Amino acid sequence: MDQEQTVTGKSILRVDGPQKVRGEAKYAAEYNIPDLLHAYVVTASIAKGRILSIDLATARRFPGVVEVLSHKNRPWFWPVSFLYKDAAGPPGKPFVPLYDDRVYFSGQPVALVIAENYEAARDAAALVKVTYKAEQHTTDLAASAAFKPRKRRIGVAPVPHPTGNADLAFAVAPLKIESTYTTSPENHHPMELFATTVKWGKIVTVYDKTQSPKSVELFLKFAFRLIGRKVRVVSSYVGGAFGLGLRPQQSVFLALMAAKALKRSVRLVLPRDHMFALGYRANAVQTVSLAADEQGRLQAIRHRAVAATSQFEDAQDPMLLFSASLYRCNNIKLTYELAKLDTVSPCDMRAPGAATGMFALESAMDELAYVLDMDPLALRLTNYTERDQSENRPFSSKALRECYALGSERFGWHKRSRAPRSMREDKELIGWGMATGAWEAAMSPAPARAKVMVRSDGKFEVTSSITDIGTGTYTILSQIAADTLETTMDRVVIRLGDSALPFNPIQGGSWTAATSGAAVQSACRKLKSTIRSRAKHTGVLGRGQGAELLSASALIDLLKLQRGRKLSATATMFSFPFGKKFSSATHAAVFAEVRVDEELSVVRVTRIVCAVAAGRILNPNTARSQIIGATVMGIGKALHEDAAYDHNLGRCMAHGFADYHIPTNADVYDIDVVFVDETDAEVSPLGVKGVGEIGVVAVAPAIANAIFHATGERMRHLPITIDRLARAGSR
Ligand code: MOS
Repeated sequence: MDQEQTVTGKSILRVDGPQKVRGEAKYAAEYNIPDLLHAYVVTASIAKGRILSIDLATARRFPGVVEVLSHKNRPWFWPVSFLYKDAAGPPGKPFVPLYDDRVYFSGQPVALVIAENYEAARDAAALVKVTYKAEQHTTDLAASAAFKPRKRRIGVAPVPHPTGNADLAFAVAPLKIESTYTTSPENHHPMELFATTVKWGKIVTVYDKTQSPKSVELFLKFAFRLIGRKVRVVSSYVGGAFGLGLRPQQSVFLALMAAKALKRSVRLVLPRDHMFALGYRANAVQTVSLAADEQGRLQAIRHRAVAATSQFEDAQDPMLLFSASLYRCNNIKLTYELAKLDTVSPCDMRAPGAATGMFALESAMDELAYVLDMDPLALRLTNYTERDQSENRPFSSKALRECYALGSERFGWHKRSRAPRSMREDKELIGWGMATGAWEAAMSPAPARAKVMVRSDGKFEVTSSITDIGTGTYTILSQIAADTLETTMDRVVIRLGDSALPFNPIQGGSWTAATSGAAVQSACRKLKSTIRSRAKHTGVLGRGQGAELLSASALIDLLKLQRGRKLSATATMFSFPFGKKFSSATHAAVFAEVRVDEELSVVRVTRIVCAVAAGRILNPNTARSQIIGATVMGIGKALHEDAAYDHNLGRCMAHGFADYHIPTNADVYDIDVVFVDETDAEVSPLGVKGVGEIGVVAVAPAIANAIFHATGERMRHLPITIDRLARAGSR
């Protein structure tokens, strides 16, 4: 920025904190509207087949029920499913609820009960009788044929091209490992349930849980042909989403369908059980082959991944991206394949692809270190690269070396004894493991807009349609505005999460701070120069007083707002044009300590140090929060979260948090987050890289590696549950 900063870069408390603590921050299901109807979804009990009959009569007679919709009596919508494309969707035909009689996955909506109250809708839903003609289903990744996706998903980096001859180099290398790693599917499970409240009227207001109000608005308007009606989508507060809200969800589609059919206001809140069938982090089978010379220099990297997808879409994510760019190696071969399952489509989940791919790569690096009898950190440093060899260009910045140095120092890594099972205390084996994390640092491919105006009370109002999914967007955008306008935080009012506000892309990809932040900065700069020229021309300044010497707020005070004259500025920020000159990524080094009860195989992750290089940190408080949250998610990925299927039923066995385990407070011990300085003028106008996703990437492999160090058991399946570890130890 071109002036002295006062709040950007400081640990400002969340500006939305007080509203949230007082319960004033409204979430999608909390808008109370007169005569509101409540909907409940009836879900399919088979994984594949057709609906033969659906009996709605009994449910209809239930007291309080207003209507029951199925594919037979739903309102009209486009009969061609490829028309339901959304900005974040992969190639294929998007799933459309109540479209026809086909069942694609267990838990798929097959009917919707709408009643005067939630309980009536829920109870009547149990009375809808559906008969099916079931077909043979496949939900087991190992039993499904792998194929290369024909069409690439837009916006996802392609699988890097092979270099050298990895097969030959691997065959002749003296030291090598080849291992296969598998991961269970995971569900996002944000704390807030997916929910939509539709206020029907000339203007249709849709309070929805989403990561992009604008995408949802465009999607609904088109899907339901709401010609002549204004559709406004509001998501002022979002209680976490982690990628599950990137695409318009089944819930918003069904809620609007009901509202349109009945011309009434409708609310649909999905119970936790239903959230298992909205999307998941693709489970995968990955084989990694690494070869090195005696000095530990990598001679070959082969990484093959087979990831789950649905029958109707080819979900894709950058699972192999960093296998080509993280370590120096001349012979690299990467293979990315999909296998079709009778499930809902997998979708992006925090650091999609990377969190799974890097578990395999970083576990394999640890295995190689033991083959070489080398320190795992030393192996990484031996193969450190200053250039992105897959694209043959420099990084816009890369302070990974500093992450290793600072992280290992804070952790005390040099005190580690290398041999497995060499550290213990009483009944517990102690293990120390580490892993590298990397994630894309980019601005949104879609442009972002922001508006700032002077209000009659002298405050500056900043508006943008972007959501804050708990990341701290309200706060950091306020900081940027305050500094750019050279005013204080209390004179900045911010409104977000509303499709009626200036267009912004999806909140995701860790790009919001860089993209929407730059738009806010640009709008504020414009407004400041407008105010300055106004001040010059109106003569409010005394002799010798230069407008440049006064802040925007001081000038506004002098101008006394010029009653009746609107002062505002709008700016559009396009993706920062650094083109092909640089590669850009965020990096992290994670060091983990586990304590494993030798008799019970219970793992405690007692210490994690996470050193992150993510460009400029706008607010260490909210940024640190992101890394801590992602680290907890990483602990869940490593030890708990398992959306395992019963392949007989073709159904996820978990129905809630009783059986889908996530880390609780008792599972989380010491998490030490440290940011290393990284100045980057190329990555984005603010020098920001984003911190939403990088925190999760290296946690699971660091824990798996620590478990090997503690127990001598190489755990190649996530999550590493107690039973799996106990079984491995009793072999
Ligand atoms: Mo993120 S997986 O782009 O919400």
